[in-house]
Amino acid sequence: MAGIINNNEAGNIPRHIAIILDGNGRWAKKRGLPRNAGHLAGSETFRNIATYCKNIGVEYLTVYAFSTENWKRSEEEVGGIMRLLDKYLREAIRDMRKKEIRMSVFGDTSRLSPELQKLIAETNEISGSIEGFQANICINYGGRAEIVRAAEQYARDLAEGRAEGKLTEERFSDYMYSAGVPDPDLLIRPGGEQRLSNFLLWQCAYSEFYFTDVLWPDFDEAELDRAIAAFNMRDRRFGGVKK
Ligand code: IPE
Ligand code: IPE
Ligand code: MG
Repeated sequence: MAGIINNNEAGNIPRHIAIILDGNGRWAKKRGLPRNAGHLAGSETFRNIATYCKNIGVEYLTVYAFSTENWKRSEEEVGGIMRLLDKYLREAIRDMRKKEIRMSVFGDTSRLSPELQKLIAETNEISGSIEGFQANICINYGGRAEIVRAAEQYARDLAEGRAEGKLTEERFSDYMYSAGVPDPDLLIRPGGEQRLSNFLLWQCAYSEFYFTDVLWPDFDEAELDRAIAAFNMRDRRFGGVKK
């Protein structure tokens, strides 16, 4: 379904949108399908929404696809998600130049299969030659793990003389997976839960949150328009007082 926002309204488009892709399992259950059918449908929704974001002028889209806690799920489900990621990355490698979509993976990729790691390295390399819209996919990502990793890397740089002694918020941000990416303006969580589940803890300090009961596989362009419309009603004060 086509969204209602057109490019003339691009002034109101958030620069960076983050989405927690939730509700795939319940979507499948409602239809009497295995959970992995929900993940498959969710991956199709991601393709649509990424394209839509690019078309309406969003600069960065960051999605939570697999958390550091999601390893607790059955081997069958985790295996299914990993196979979907493999399929998605292969497609991206084939199409990202033509679609002009840069891609980055946030998370500890060392726990992923060597094949997936190779595909991720390849998408990173291709991304270097693309300008414009960037999709960040969080895989084996956890906000706390990211902050601990950043602290460890900073400590190492400091000990080895590569970092200055005075740590600022800005410099610390450069140790995050999101180095160089502005903080999300709008964070969307479909699926009905109203929590962060360890997503972008550092980066969401001043993001606007939007929750909806729509399950991720049912999320479409019109839903994104609704989220953006709600975002545009917010008064972002960043701790100041409105004049
Ligand atoms: C989100 O959907 C996808 C992942 C966490 C991998 P869920 O699988 O969490 O779906 P629900 O929450 O069980 O419906
Ligand atoms: C958050 O969803 C993680 C992802 C969408 C990747 P979960 O379904 O894992 O979160 P909880 O368990 O409801 O907090
Ligand atoms: Mg869930």
